[in-house]
Amino acid sequence: MKRWLKYVKPYLPYFILGPLCMILEVVGEVLMPKFLAEVINGADSDIGISVTSMVLMILTALMMMAGGIGGAYFGAKAAVNFATDLRRDTFAKIQEFSFANIDKFRTGSLVTRLTNDVTQMQNFVNMLLRMALRSPGMLIGGLIMAISMQPSLSLVLAVTVPMLLITIAILIALAFPRFQSMQMRVDALNATVQENITNIRVVKSFVREDYESEKFADANSRLKAAGMHATKLMIIIMPLMNFFMYATIIAVVFFGSGIVLEGDMPVGDLSAFVTYVNQILSSLMMVAMLFMTTSRAMASGKRIGEVLDEHPDINDEDARYPDLTVKDGAISFRGVSFRYYKDNDEPVLDKIDLEIPARSTVGIIGSTGCGKTTLVSMIPRLYDVDEGEVLIDGVNVRDYSLYNLREGVGMVLQKNVLFSGTIYDNLRFGDADASDEEVQRFATYAAADKFVSTFKDGYDSEIEQGGANVSGGQKQRLCIARALLKRPKVLILDDSTSAVDTATERQIQSALSTELEDCTKIIIAQRINSVKGTDMIVVMDDGAITAIGTHDELLETSETYREIFESQSSVTESERGEAV
Ligand SMILES: Nc1ncnc2c1ncn2[C@@H]1O[C@H](COP(=O)(O)OP(=O)(O)OP(=O)(O)O)[C@@H](O)[C@H]1O
Ligand SMILES: [Mg+2]
Repeated sequence: MKRWLKYVKPYLPYFILGPLCMILEVVGEVLMPKFLAEVINGADSDIGISVTSMVLMILTALMMMAGGIGGAYFGAKAAVNFATDLRRDTFAKIQEFSFANIDKFRTGSLVTRLTNDVTQMQNFVNMLLRMALRSPGMLIGGLIMAISMQPSLSLVLAVTVPMLLITIAILIALAFPRFQSMQMRVDALNATVQENITNIRVVKSFVREDYESEKFADANSRLKAAGMHATKLMIIIMPLMNFFMYATIIAVVFFGSGIVLEGDMPVGDLSAFVTYVNQILSSLMMVAMLFMTTSRAMASGKRIGEVLDEHPDINDEDARYPDLTVKDGAISFRGVSFRYYKDNDEPVLDKIDLEIPARSTVGIIGSTGCGKTTLVSMIPRLYDVDEGEVLIDGVNVRDYSLYNLREGVGMVLQKNVLFSGTIYDNLRFGDADASDEEVQRFATYAAADKFVSTFKDGYDSEIEQGGANVSGGQKQRLCIARALLKRPKVLILDDSTSAVDTATERQIQSALSTELEDCTKIIIAQRINSVKGTDMIVVMDDGAITAIGTHDELLETSETYREIFESQSSVTESERGEAV
């Protein structure tokens, strides 16, 4: 509750004015039948009363109009602002999430929570502000007016209202779980849509549109079934409600006409009484609807709350040297073990010990899935080690502030993306203040300058979402340039030149060694050629380091390395043979 009040507070005036305006409408609604009764009662006797009542009716109508407009306006304003702030904070929270936090929620579900669930809350706030006073006000006002008008006739209500209440309660109790399962299927549908649309290129290249359409149709029809299941109950409510209403009215007219005939009640009062009965029953209905929306909003609120309450499992609250920045870039792994799923037996990294001197260039090679990406992820704390420690310049990475640590460590991720925007925008992700010349200089180091200048708009060319309109190798080079612009002390290239031809790769590497002299460089690669010239090569296998040395040393000492080397050189030889 406290959490939501935070979003109410800044807009308190709207939250108060909205319902206040609604009171005006309620007062009008309650008074109107009374005036009408007086007009009808006075129609054949005293003209004076009718005119007064008619004037009062016009004034009341105007008041109701003002109240209605004000209530809707302030209600909408309160709800929209509430939702905007809630969305802002939820988004900000997701930005703090670690990779592990995101793995836990899954992207699709985060998107649903940020959009659909926030909208549910917004609708709820809007409805609450408009109905919270209006419905009970009309209910109570109607009851008072009806009872004061003709107590004996009100006994009819004593029978029908409880019957209606019980029926509505039963229907809601049945409908709520059905709405909940509908919400879960909305989640599933969104997950399908999100995955499909993000990866539409893969879908098309595999000509899997039909399969994807079927998958979507499946999620869609499951949602339809759940929706129908829930709606069926709601369908009954309206006619049932009408049935109750008319049954009550018939009873009122039946008993009421007797009273009128006996001369104990003017006929205008009977018509007003019928209107009050109508009001009482429909406001009961609205209260029921409000309950319904409340329980749905509570489900959404819970889902948003889960995101807001999630503790980013990688944080720098306990950092011992929050002001320390990375100076030299010497890296040590000491007894590092790690698992993605903590209950797995097999660790992904198994007691790794590794010393990387400052300013050296280190290659990491090993079969796919052996843990190379995982190993380097420990340096900028994309994941935290389970056992052991990772040190930079002799200080545990946990003791730096996350900002300083990640400023010091530039990582070109294996699965990398560009954002929509110009090339300048994308490269300035690394350094927002870099001048055009600087951007171009670093792009040159990454061998990106040449192809960018062939684009019609050069560095002002627009990149599509995900970098769809540049080639794989071009994208990799832009991603490297982006990381270089950070001027990191430690640069990690995770398979970052895999789509770049060998000559260009050599050009990038030589630029890195001359222009980024005082930077420790870690290069993960599949090709021996990519790591051949480094100061030290680390050979990994199945989560462990099996050998360390230079290319020539490893050819002597490491069988794994020799095998990789031979397999790759034999390929090149046979290719050469074919070419000849
Ligand atoms: N986010 C993740 N959640 C769960 N398991 C993961 C995750 N990322 C990687 N793994 C698993 O951890 C192991 C090591 O993966 P890693 O990405 O480190 O391999 P790699 O050596 O970089 O492989 P490649 O050469 O193909 O990039 C693999 O078995 C992989 O399935
Ligand atoms: Mg990898």
